[in-house]
Amino acid sequence: MSAGLVQAAYIVAALFFILSLAGLSKQESAKSGNYYGIAGMAIALIATIFSPHSQGFAWIIVAMVIGGSIGVYYAKKVEMTEMPELVAILHSFVGMAAVLVGYNSYLAPPAPVSVDAAGIHAEHVIHLVEVFLGVFIGAVTFTGSIVAFGKLRGVISSSPLNLPHKHKLNLAAIVVSLLLMYQFVSNDGSTFALIVMTLIAFAFGYHLVASIGGADMPVVVSMLNSYSGWAAAAAGFMLANDLLIVTGALVGSSGAILSYIMCKAMNRSFVSVIAGGFGQEISISSDVEQGEHRETSAEEVAELLRNSKSVIITPGYGMAVAQAQYPVHEITEKLRAQGIEVRFGIHPVAGRLPGHMNVLLAEAKVPYDIVLEMDEINDDFPQTDTVLVIGANDTVNPAALEDPNSPIAGMPVLEVWNAQNVIVFKRSMNTGYAGVQNPLFFKENTQMLFGDAKESVDAISKAL
Ligand code: TAP
Repeated sequence: MSAGLVQAAYIVAALFFILSLAGLSKQESAKSGNYYGIAGMAIALIATIFSPHSQGFAWIIVAMVIGGSIGVYYAKKVEMTEMPELVAILHSFVGMAAVLVGYNSYLAPPAPVSVDAAGIHAEHVIHLVEVFLGVFIGAVTFTGSIVAFGKLRGVISSSPLNLPHKHKLNLAAIVVSLLLMYQFVSNDGSTFALIVMTLIAFAFGYHLVASIGGADMPVVVSMLNSYSGWAAAAAGFMLANDLLIVTGALVGSSGAILSYIMCKAMNRSFVSVIAGGFGQEISISSDVEQGEHRETSAEEVAELLRNSKSVIITPGYGMAVAQAQYPVHEITEKLRAQGIEVRFGIHPVAGRLPGHMNVLLAEAKVPYDIVLEMDEINDDFPQTDTVLVIGANDTVNPAALEDPNSPIAGMPVLEVWNAQNVIVFKRSMNTGYAGVQNPLFFKENTQMLFGDAKESVDAISKAL
């Protein structure tokens, strides 16, 4: 393939990536967005493999077969609820790739393009800065993503790590890295400075994400997505690959926008979250006596639903674990057939990844027009007869509004307690993801329906 043709293919691939992002922004067009992304990536791979700069064709194919097989295996095996973990670990690969590309580019620098000495010197300095920044961003992304993976998987505690002077430690890591960059560039690429900075960046990435509490993990995952984009863009500069720069910038900026939107949705300060919880007071969740809770049965809930005029269902992570979306759709249809208004209220961070609930409900063929965002439905709870909270906990916790010491204080929540009756589906009195007790369970108009959400909803469907 000629160099000109490769550049043309890169432009087409970049356009496909932009179409892909546009498609993914709406549920109805998400599928075509995925196809655009696949097409763009296929074009990019073919153009790169057959470009005049590529060598070792056989090695590339061997690597692709091994990598592709592992990818297909995991993509088929992964449960929907484990998706954020998979995304986090994939981000760590991008980070590590940027570190390796950086070291490779440092050890085997590209041939200069300029002809005069001043031009060659300037190019060399720019290359050193690219290597340094690429390795730094990649190393932070790598360890940060590993910690995020561990927290989402539950192998690392989801409560924030609170080292003494943690913000000063972060600041020191940045300042020392800047000084090392100065030394690296002025000493014509000191290996010592590069290695020390890499170790600092690994520790910095670890500390940055470990300091963030479980409740802010959704923002962290999308922020690491953004970092992985910038790491890829940095690798693009080092490899002088325009498409990698464009793609990295697209991922980096879209991830940053998503993080910002999520911070707004959760009423968190963007700067404070990305700076490892900077400025947030560490709150101790108060273990106050909450009172008694009341239990109910599937038959009683069926009776209550039959006598309701309006019903709102607020699903959460538990619906995903139980795979209860199919019987939920079944009871929705049964109630609607009896003239009862049924709608869904979706919290922006319900579940474990953005849009998790929307995807599950779409999978079960729940019509889009009765699935509403939190802001669209929150004012309607006082006029609602019955709310079914199916496997949701943090997203319906009144402590977010009432208890300034709660770790989720200030986060907007679905105000389900304003309805006439609230039924909470869960298996025990355990806490949700953020690890805080939920006063909703002890309110007078709330009843608990214990058991696996799918079995409970199946039983209600039968009784209906
Ligand atoms: P959570 O607060 O995590 O609560 C889930 C509830 O489901 C728990 O109360 C659990 O109680 C119940 N449950 C689990 N398995 C169940 C089953 N088989 N049957 C019935 N109930 C079951 O969920 P949420 O309200 O959706 O809130 C999401 C949380 O995850 C937020 O804190 C959010 O910040 C965080 N998070 C979100 C994301 C994104 S982007 N959405 C990413 C990472 C983290 P039992 O164990 O007693 O059954």
